[in-house]
Amino acid sequence: MRVKKDMSTQPILVLDSGVGGLTVLRQLIQVLPNEDFVYFADFDNAPYGRLSKSQLRGVILARLLQLNKKYKPKSIVLACNTATASTIQDVREQFPHCIIVGTEPAIKPALRVCNKVLLLGTMGTMCNSGLVRLVTETQPNRVITQVMPDLATQIDKNIANLQVLRSELALSLSQYVGKVDGVVLGCTHYLFVKDLVSEIFGSDVSIFDGNLGVTNRVNSCLKLLRLNRVDTVVGTVKLLCTRRADTVRLYTAWRILQGGDI
Ligand code: DGL
Repeated sequence: MRVKKDMSTQPILVLDSGVGGLTVLRQLIQVLPNEDFVYFADFDNAPYGRLSKSQLRGVILARLLQLNKKYKPKSIVLACNTATASTIQDVREQFPHCIIVGTEPAIKPALRVCNKVLLLGTMGTMCNSGLVRLVTETQPNRVITQVMPDLATQIDKNIANLQVLRSELALSLSQYVGKVDGVVLGCTHYLFVKDLVSEIFGSDVSIFDGNLGVTNRVNSCLKLLRLNRVDTVVGTVKLLCTRRADTVRLYTAWRILQGGDI
């Protein structure tokens, strides 16, 4: 990585297809309150999980080139398991001056404390993530994978009333009740339905996500490269999306995260 010395006051750019990455953003702000953040919800290209690897690569690089030109971030966070699985290497090559951090399903932490875990994710993550491939090949009896083809879209769409997803979730997940002792939320959107998932499996089943891992990685990279911001106490947060009409969804999701303990 070729870091420029004067970049510490530049923002951290956080990208996802929709509201999911806001859960990563919230965690980042908690740990790095004095940084400036730009969040971009790429609703126009959502859901990422339905795109092929090469389509997604094209979409993500085009979007990041545009955002990089405008905001010149010191770090780009792919707050999306699907985008990370398909494009992280290309993003690193394209933006050598930035700290690039992706999001991966927390399967390893889950397997450290659970006997058998259920991994939920998009088609893109299940097909393209090297980590998922590695774990399912090396420990096939300890991981069950379940693609949730529509869940991220449903969460984006029903963000103001997530309870409507309860019965559909129960329908797809109740077959695993009693068979696993851990569930990995392998998509940043799914944190919005963490309570519903927990209700289905009961309190004995632990629920995992990769958000803290992302935050710790951003924090340690910034410190290592002396790019963490020290001239402010409270940074700024910009929430952006492709279509003006979607701003309401984005802000509704952000308000939910401010109020609850998702
Ligand atoms: N939030 C995203 C993830 O973590 C993807 C959702 C989608 O657009 O399919 O995978």
